[in-house]
Formats: sequence, structure tokens, C-alpha cells
Amino acid sequence: MSTLAPTTPLRDRVAVITGASSGIGEATAEKLASLGARVVVVARRADRLQNLVERIAENGGTAVAIAADVTDTTAVQAAADRVEAELGGADLLFNNAGVMLPAPIEERAAGQWQHQIDLNIAGLMHVIGAFTPQLVRAGQERGVADLINTSSIAAQNIFPTFAVYSATKAYVTHLSRHLRAELGARNVRVSAIEPGIVGTELQSHVTDQGALDWLEGSKKSMEWLTAQDIAETIGFIAALPPRVNLQQVTIMPTAQAG
Ligand SMILES: NC(=O)c1ccc[n+]([C@@H]2O[C@H](COP(=O)([O-])OP(=O)(O)OC[C@H]3O[C@@H](n4cnc5c(N)ncnc54)[C@H](OP(=O)(O)O)[C@@H]3O)[C@@H](O)[C@H]2O)c1
Repeated sequence: MSTLAPTTPLRDRVAVITGASSGIGEATAEKLASLGARVVVVARRADRLQNLVERIAENGGTAVAIAADVTDTTAVQAAADRVEAELGGADLLFNNAGVMLPAPIEERAAGQWQHQIDLNIAGLMHVIGAFTPQLVRAGQERGVADLINTSSIAAQNIFPTFAVYSATKAYVTHLSRHLRAELGARNVRVSAIEPGIVGTELQSHVTDQGALDWLEGSKKSMEWLTAQDIAETIGFIAALPPRVNLQQVTIMPTAQAG
């Protein structure tokens, strides 16, 4: 039975967060640090990560920045090796880096298709591959570890022109369900979080005018989720008793229908 103070339920845990230089990852790093975890923040923009680490430290937390491109297997393995050497390994992985580049399929935006597949699928897998040994060991030694993958409502619902992005997120959700079945018996909980629209930098990378118009209309007609809303939910998932595994969490702006 845990005797941890209720305000720091993640004390003694080591959380790795990818896509931590902005949006959902950044907010989640701050949240998990505030719950007592030592956090490792991963993304490409080193300056943004450094600011985040300093902010977390100012608030009494502990954070380490590792600038890495998750599509680079060697860089991801080096990050995992560093986490092992400096922090004794991760027991919580928030696998969150991703990009959304909608476009009508007939435009044949092959570069954008590849970018989404390389990051949302292959990058996600590189991170899982490099950190799963640490999670499994933590599960065995400490009785619980977490692998939380960022999927999307796009994994479930239908959004014209978002086919490739949505398919990458369907991959994430389905993969997560299988990994849960594979790793649960070893005390590694696996979850997929599926947000509806969250106001972050994600929308700023969109180049397709139709999708930009749709996003603009949606912003006027409803209040989007904030990155902090998702961060709160990740904190909740990770702080649950070890016997409880939220397999799939769909979190929507109240007014978003689909
Ligand atoms: N916002 C939404 O409406 C929404 C809804 C559902 C799901 N999601 C998912 O939520 C996740 C986080 O997105 P967000 O909304 O927080 O958007 P965001 O602010 O654009 O964050 C994306 C993060 O991924 C990082 N990243 C991009 N390419 C990378 C690479 N090659 N290697 C390492 N890191 C990389 C970015 O940092 P660097 O550029 O510094 O590398 C950034 O920190 C994504 O998987 C997204 O698909 C978002």
C-alpha cells in the first residue's frame, strides 16, 4: 500500500515525455513534475526544452532536457541510454510527438503523407522500442509502469481530408490495445489518449486551405480543449492505483460533435 502524500503521487517516478517543447507535451511535463515525477523532456527545439526545464525547476520540480528527433532511431536509443545512466531508467513514457497535415487525397501530398507516417507511426515505434525494456523492468521491480500513447479522436471518427493523419492515429490506438494485452501481465499499463481539438501549435503546421477554414470555423463555434486539460488527464491516469489501467480515454471539447 502506497503511503505517498496525495499531492505528490508520482514521487519516485521517472517520466519521459516526447513532443515536450510545446502544446500537450509541454503542459504534461509541467503537470507530472508538479505531481512529483522527475521528468525527461524530449523534442527537437533545445531552446524551448531548456526554458521548460528552468520553469519546472523554479516551481520545485526536477527536469532533464534531451534534444532529439524521434524519427532518428540512433538518437532515440541514445536518449534512452542517457535516461538509464542518469536516472536509473523510465517508468512512465508519454509517447506524444506528432504532426497533423490534412490535404485532399487527390493532391497527392506524398511528402506530407510520409512526414506523418515517419513521425506518428515510425517515430512512436522507435520510442517504444527504446524504452520498453526500462518500462518492463520497472513493472517487475516496482509493480507498475506506464506507456501512454497520444492518439486522437481521428482514430475513431471520420474527417474528410484527414485520412492519412487519422489512419496514423488509428494505428496508435490499435497498437496500444495490443501492447496492453502483451505488457499488462508484466505490470506495464498501456493507454491511448484520444483528444478532440486542443488549441496548440498542431494547427499552425496545417497548409491546406480547406482544413484551415474548417479549423477557423470550429474555433469560432466552440471552446477548444487546452493542453492543460490533457495534462490533467495524463496525471490522473498515471496516479491511479497499479491495478487500474485506463485502456483508452477519449476527451472532447464539450461542443465538438464528431
Ligand atoms: N492539438 C490537437 O487538437 C490534438 C488532438 C488530438 C491529438 N493530438 C496529438 O497530440 C500530440 C501533441 O500535439 P500538440 O497538439 O501538442 O501539438 P504541438 O504543439 O505541435 O506539439 C508537437 C510536439 O511534437 C514535437 N515534434 C515534432 N516533430 C518531432 C520530431 N521529429 N522529433 C521529436 N519531437 C517532434 C514538437 O517539438 P519540436 O518541433 O521541438 O521537435 C512538439 O513538441 C500529437 O501526437 C498530436 O497528433 C493533438
